[in-house]
Amino acid sequence: MSRDNKRDGFSGSFGMIAATIGSAVGLGNLWRFPYLVGQNGGAAFILIYLFFSIVICTPIMVAELVIGRRGQGAPAISFFNLSGSRKWASVGILAMFTCILILSFYGVVGGWTIKYLVNSVCLQYREGAVLDSASAFGQFVSGSGGPIVHFLIFTALTGAVILAGVTKGIERTSKFMMPVLFVLVVLVAVRSITLPGSAEGLKYLFKPDFSQIDSNVVLAALGQAFFSLSLGAGMQITYGSYTRSDDNIIQNAFISSFSDTLFAILAGCAIMPAVFAFGINPGEGAGLAFVTLPQVFVQMPMGGLFAILFFATLFLAAITSAISLFEVVTASMMEIWKMTRRKAALLTGSIIVALGCVCSLSQGVLSGFTVFGKNVFDLFDYVSSNVLMLLTSLLVVLFVGWRLKKEAFLDEVTAGGRARMPRSVGAVLFYIIKYAAPLVIFAIVLSVIIK
Ligand code: TRP
Repeated sequence: MSRDNKRDGFSGSFGMIAATIGSAVGLGNLWRFPYLVGQNGGAAFILIYLFFSIVICTPIMVAELVIGRRGQGAPAISFFNLSGSRKWASVGILAMFTCILILSFYGVVGGWTIKYLVNSVCLQYREGAVLDSASAFGQFVSGSGGPIVHFLIFTALTGAVILAGVTKGIERTSKFMMPVLFVLVVLVAVRSITLPGSAEGLKYLFKPDFSQIDSNVVLAALGQAFFSLSLGAGMQITYGSYTRSDDNIIQNAFISSFSDTLFAILAGCAIMPAVFAFGINPGEGAGLAFVTLPQVFVQMPMGGLFAILFFATLFLAAITSAISLFEVVTASMMEIWKMTRRKAALLTGSIIVALGCVCSLSQGVLSGFTVFGKNVFDLFDYVSSNVLMLLTSLLVVLFVGWRLKKEAFLDEVTAGGRARMPRSVGAVLFYIIKYAAPLVIFAIVLSVIIK
């Protein structure tokens, strides 16, 4: 009990699950998943994705939660408390750095969602409106002042929730936002599927084309599963440290990852059928959600209203995820450098604003500045999803499997006997964490390096 009282934390399972799903379900589901499916062979990609998310990634989520709840701190502190070693603590620093990179480009897209929400409130996407959504989107994101102002508003709102703390800020926001989000995604999916010509899109989503599978596609699926479940960035460690000591973390992890995958597939159903119904190329890229859906709305009865609801949803999904990324950085600063929440949040915000502005401008005036052929925005996305998150996850599973040991793991996942979770289930997860997870991550990284 004493452990629960010491730190600000979630009041119970529902709050914890809502916040974790809030983190997991974000732009990754609504904006990244559908276009990755489009680019990488439809259902074949989804199957690989499902396999990774259930068999490998959920156990990794459990590993992170165990580190956080047992270590009782932000990532670096949790690692240090459990190992007494500064080397292991540096994995937590790596995680904090990863969150900073993700949040920089994520916040920029968060800003776009605000812009589109405002547009829809101004009835730009009402039924019958004439719209060139592709060029409007291109013009907006490649501008300078516009996207930056929206990015700043998004970051300020995120920071405000962080300032309010874990229970009053993060938990309260998530409990309210997540159910609303679910209803809205279902409504859009139903509308999209019932459009004439949508069947091609469903076929594209659900008919496997295994000939497209190569190591890059496998890496993309694994990278997306990590990104979507918010792994490899210390987020589950941080939220794990806020989880009550008697909560059933295995059960919570499976509920969270199941919901996340459901959201991703629903988002695919919301977007792909519409893409095909309007004859748009599904591999179009990040703009898909912003370009395609406005075209759906202008042809939909009450589309104007739908647009408002949808972009409100996209914004809510983005902000609950951004909150979790922001919290990792703020909690780390608070605990490592003994700062107040206020100071740490302001410092986090300043760093994010500086890097985010560069990301935003890299869509326009700075687009000529490229590293390995990628602009700064794409570089941050690529490096965090395909390099840093995999590396951090590898270190997380090696730590839990080989350093923390089985008894400690089983004790934590059964909450010392207080959670109804058979030890055998814990043992299976432990062996996945100890042997299968490191091998899979290692093999995939290697196959890409060799290529
Ligand atoms: N999972 C979120 C999404 O799908 C992104 C995200 C939020 C994230 N927090 C994270 C990714 C922490 C990695 C680590 O949009």
